[in-house]
Amino acid sequence: MSIDVKAAREDTRGTGHVTHLNNAGSSLAPHPVMDTVVGHLRREEEIGGYEAAAEAEERIASVYSSLARLIGATPGEVAVLESGSTAWAAVVSRLPLTGRRILLGRTEYWHNVLVLRQLARRDGLELVVLDDDAHGQVDVKHLQCELDRGGAGMVALTHVPMGGAQVQPAAEVGRACRAAGVPFVLDACQSVGQLPLDVETLGCDVLVGTGRKFLRGPRGTAFVHVRRELLDRLEPALHDRHRSAGGTDKIEARALESWETNVAGRLGLGRAVDYALTLGLEPIRGRVTTLAEALRARLAAVPAVRVHDRGLRRGGIVTFSVDGRTAEQVKNQLSRQTINVSTVALPPSAAPLVLDPAPEQQTVAVRASVHYYNTEDDLDRLITALP
Ligand SMILES: Cc1ncc(COP(=O)(O)O)c(C=O)c1O
Repeated sequence: MSIDVKAAREDTRGTGHVTHLNNAGSSLAPHPVMDTVVGHLRREEEIGGYEAAAEAEERIASVYSSLARLIGATPGEVAVLESGSTAWAAVVSRLPLTGRRILLGRTEYWHNVLVLRQLARRDGLELVVLDDDAHGQVDVKHLQCELDRGGAGMVALTHVPMGGAQVQPAAEVGRACRAAGVPFVLDACQSVGQLPLDVETLGCDVLVGTGRKFLRGPRGTAFVHVRRELLDRLEPALHDRHRSAGGTDKIEARALESWETNVAGRLGLGRAVDYALTLGLEPIRGRVTTLAEALRARLAAVPAVRVHDRGLRRGGIVTFSVDGRTAEQVKNQLSRQTINVSTVALPPSAAPLVLDPAPEQQTVAVRASVHYYNTEDDLDRLITALP
């Protein structure tokens, strides 16, 4: 099965207005997602917020089943929150640590690193930044050595960095962590929606995803999966407002949520997940990867352009620089021609900056991130519009 690009574009009103290559920032949502959000807001206007939520009760419950299906989990292991950063911090700050040493990848999302640094200061933990291999991916041999030394409390990895093509070898990391009995926290904010994810295959104990990026959900939506065995041990003890309805007396991940929430956004997130599942994550992955490689090849053929992407396995994020122009100048020039890209600092993480005494120099690059509804024409427009 392949993606029907024409139908996908017809579902995406924004494609009539812009050439959107900022899907790693926030995708253009398909109209069924936005219609769901707006439809619920209308019901809140018409009958009242609590009443509209009561009316949507079954559809709200199915958001959890959809998310669970997306990542191979059970609905009780999933919570919906407002941002990936909040979700990550909410779980990590409650993890029962198995040791005092926290291992993290060099491309860990900067906010996660700041949270870890704060926890390290407060609880006297040691942060150990894992080496990259020659391809810019986490060096699994180094990870194994660090696990063998003992005393590891958790391993944190960002599956696809915010400014990178590389898809980290998360399943290998998961296997090593499982064998060592160390919790593995995977930040999948940039991989969910562009790659198939399965928490069993990945071997992660916690997985965090955000709604607005490759999943094409509304802004202000995110989710976290916590493996059942860990859920019961999160500290401080989760209160029991969301104990499972079946009376099994088990804590549900929903206890991480606040009671008050944006119901419309939540319903939109569920719709976005269903939309992606209907298309199929494997066809999505195939098309995103093909378009991104096509863009890299076109960019590499332009003499003034340098493509920065690394990684043995690469996804939909393409980073590059244009000689004699700053990334901001390139972005602005493209924007004037209704082509959306963003800029990103490389390396894309606070890990080296925060932890190394002599941090590497950062470069600010242009980030063009493709999705399945983009076309070869979109790529040509970008190349023609470059300064
Ligand atoms: C890799 C990665 N992790 C986490 C996040 C944070 O997600 P949110 O902006 O929803 O807090 C981002 C956002 O850019 C990201 O790129």
